[in-house]
Amino acid sequence: MHEAFMERCIQLAKGGLGRVSPNPMVGCVIVQGDTIIAEGYHLAPGGAHAEAHAIESVKDKSVLKHCRMYVSLEPCCHEGKTPPCTTLITRYEIPEVIVGMKDPFERVRGRGMAMLKKAGVKVRYPVLEKECRNLNRRFITFHEKKRPYVILKWAESRDGFIAPARPAASKRWISNSLSRTLVHRWRSEEDAIMVGTKTARVDNPRLDVRMVRGRNPVRVVTDRNGKLPPALHILDGKTRTIVFTEKNKKSRHNLEFIRTDFGNFPDAMLRQLHEAGVQSLIVEGGAALLASYLESGRWDEIRRFTGTTLLQDGLRAPRVAGSIYRSDTVGTDTLDIFYR
Ligand SMILES: NC(=O)c1ccc[n+]([C@@H]2O[C@H](COP(=O)([O-])OP(=O)(O)OC[C@H]3O[C@@H](n4cnc5c(N)ncnc54)[C@H](OP(=O)(O)O)[C@@H]3O)[C@@H](O)[C@H]2O)c1
Repeated sequence: MHEAFMERCIQLAKGGLGRVSPNPMVGCVIVQGDTIIAEGYHLAPGGAHAEAHAIESVKDKSVLKHCRMYVSLEPCCHEGKTPPCTTLITRYEIPEVIVGMKDPFERVRGRGMAMLKKAGVKVRYPVLEKECRNLNRRFITFHEKKRPYVILKWAESRDGFIAPARPAASKRWISNSLSRTLVHRWRSEEDAIMVGTKTARVDNPRLDVRMVRGRNPVRVVTDRNGKLPPALHILDGKTRTIVFTEKNKKSRHNLEFIRTDFGNFPDAMLRQLHEAGVQSLIVEGGAALLASYLESGRWDEIRRFTGTTLLQDGLRAPRVAGSIYRSDTVGTDTLDIFYR
């Protein structure tokens, strides 16, 4: 029974994907007997938490004394942009709280549950912990590993190339339009998107989400020697862009030049992105950049499209050691997902 209600919390929490970072995605239900009487989820950073939304929607607050609260993440116990959820729970005398997972955030980490217990609230934990951790894998990686959650994404031809031998002469898509739309959806779900120097120069990508509705991620590019032509889309200042370089360059509106240690790549850069509050990063190539993430082991997820095109020659796609977690078809393309 507890699992079914927690499952609903997870479902609700997903409404915050691509909207709540740097906060976690959280869902909450309030149950009387066997019936859900209120639901809530965290909608926007700085906005009310899932627990507050659920409590708010209960008209007659006196019934809360006879209810159980299910929440996918430990209730907070600190004064942030909103009052602590533990205070709300005790104020309305909710007698039992069922928690999906402990909050990895330094200021909480078990203190929320301890506070509730101290106030006489019955706390049950964990319920569907694996599923709750998977829901908040970006938030957890950010707080536990002090770096963004890294997703590597590329498209390769049926014969294993990510670009033709002469890309400028033969602009051809490797993946189909459905896959490309899906990629725009993914971009809108992550805090930042990154490409390598050569991809920025050869493909001149916009790295936005124009094929779907959603927020544009922060764009990230390497330009070690400061030689990228200023006319490139990625340097147009239309959305926040971070350029990692070894040169001293003056930042301006929406265009930040950050000096990094290329001898310690990608660790130094990932640490700097963490400091900038970037919780997740989707890396869209090219081959050299993807290889440096794969070789350093600093990745969490791979999303690999294989199209039907045959290129016969060109830039070899990265090789992945490890087994495919899930394989789907997207029109004529195959999408393989790997987790580390
Ligand atoms: N099919 C796909 O999914 C896909 C996606 C993206 C790109 N592509 C294709 O991939 C090709 C470009 O790939 P690429 O491998 O030649 O270049 P890339 O990965 O885009 O960029 C590599 C360059 O980035 C700079 N860099 C600096 N530090 C680095 C580090 N530690 N690790 C990696 N790179 C570092 C270097 O440039 P400097 O020497 O100037 O410092 C390096 O030559 C293009 O043809 C593009 O069309 C395909």
